[in-house]
Amino acid sequence: MKIRLENLNNSKKTTMLCGFVLEDSDKVLGLKKIEPKIIPSIRQSINDIGGIFGKIAVIPTTGKTAQRILLAGLGKKENITNDTIRFVSGKIAQKARELKLKEFSIIIPSSSLIEPVLSITQIVEGCKMSLYKFEKYKSKKENNTPDLTILVSKSEKIAKAIKIAEIVSDGAIYTKSIANLPPNECTPTTLANFARIVSKKNNMKCNIISKNDLKKKGFGGITAVGQGSKNEPKLIILEHSHGPRNEKPIVLVGKAVTFDTGGISLKPGDKMDEMKFDKCGGCTVIGIMKAVSELKLPINLVGIIPSVENMPSGESYRPGDIIKLYNGKTAEILNTDAEGRLILADALSYGEKQYSPKAIIDFATLTGACIIALGTNIAGMISNNDKLTQKIIESSKRTTEEIWQLPLNDDYMDMVKSDVADMKNVGIGRAAGTITAAAFLRNAIENTPWIHIDIAGVAWTQVATKEKPYNPKGATGFGVRLILDYFVSVGFIDIRISKTMFIHHVI
Ligand code: BES
Ligand code: MN
Ligand code: ZN
Repeated sequence: MKIRLENLNNSKKTTMLCGFVLEDSDKVLGLKKIEPKIIPSIRQSINDIGGIFGKIAVIPTTGKTAQRILLAGLGKKENITNDTIRFVSGKIAQKARELKLKEFSIIIPSSSLIEPVLSITQIVEGCKMSLYKFEKYKSKKENNTPDLTILVSKSEKIAKAIKIAEIVSDGAIYTKSIANLPPNECTPTTLANFARIVSKKNNMKCNIISKNDLKKKGFGGITAVGQGSKNEPKLIILEHSHGPRNEKPIVLVGKAVTFDTGGISLKPGDKMDEMKFDKCGGCTVIGIMKAVSELKLPINLVGIIPSVENMPSGESYRPGDIIKLYNGKTAEILNTDAEGRLILADALSYGEKQYSPKAIIDFATLTGACIIALGTNIAGMISNNDKLTQKIIESSKRTTEEIWQLPLNDDYMDMVKSDVADMKNVGIGRAAGTITAAAFLRNAIENTPWIHIDIAGVAWTQVATKEKPYNPKGATGFGVRLILDYFVSVGFIDIRISKTMFIHHVI
């Protein structure tokens, strides 16, 4: 999808002119001068939808401006959220595709309703992400993607906002597209190859650590979980170094279990296919690295992705095993299905030791318990640092990638202590499963500011997931927009706030 900018008053004729309308209003937001010939069509469309949220009317028209008018309802003004325009723009883009249009134009709403940089970001994200479809394995593809013209008073700031939103959306779409791949086609080796390709295109350093070296270097968690599969484990490391030379990086860690059968503690068969999505955390980190490197953000950022396949076999690790993790601590395995925390612990310790980062953020489809606690629209978050948490919550509100903080204290830390080793890989029964998993991870780092985001409920669309045009069936790419908003909002690119402020002032 190509996106262009044009001034509303001297735009070329469009196949479909789209605008937003509030409930109980007779105005198209942002539309000032109207060509008389299209007024009746506009009136008709306004009547048809009454500004009801998500409703759309398309009316053919004659005139120099447009072949059709599309009006889309935003609902009541007081009910507008940071997701409204993204959601409705997605519906518009899908309508344009359904009509097999080559191009459509959207008028951005008046700045009195919403700040143009925000509405532009939401329009671009909504349109681009809603037109993504996982059809790699379909013989017949629905390949018409209309181009978009955004009608707005042009400025450098607006052009920059569009560029950022395009790259960020592409990052999320890339995450979706690799996360959706089936487990026979996407093994740890395949993921490592994707990371390598992304790194080459965008000048990042890429280091892949393979099985023998993982063993030699003491990555006991990754090697134990990976030993049951003939698809060997990989530790993928991407480095984007565009910040000041001596500035400590931020480290992102993502769980990438390309398929989670549970291992010897085998999962029941129902919905086991969905465990191809157990690599989503890692795919999110690759998508973020891709976007950050394309934006050339002036930061030092490291992405670490431990990738394994968790399979039952004669070589698998077993309940009762005691393994030694990268930081030297021992873990008693009580359930081979609690594998994510083992590979993440290795990656977190490695990240902290190797890079002494300013902050570590990890993404993982870590616990079914997170779905029980928060459902499938809100991710769980656990942290040891309130300032960082606050910033991420702000980004969550802007992006509508929703998160909710859960507590972590010594009582939970006690729940993962083992009688025979330093830790055990399960808590006590099913109590606070998401938090005890995080408690295990907390043991892997010393005192670096850290945020753990459990995306078990939100990484792909499940039965209880709220339907959104920009999250069609399958992987959602959760986390890419969230983290990019965080980087942009703390001032790495000064479009959202005017002052340039670097991250070490924030954490
Ligand atoms: N990948 C799963 C968690 C999961 C399950 C995510 C369902 C999304 C949907 C994870 O590896 C796992 O199996 N966790 C266990 C931990 C338990 C054995 C302590 C779980 O949640 O049941
Ligand atoms: Mn598991
Ligand atoms: Zn898992």
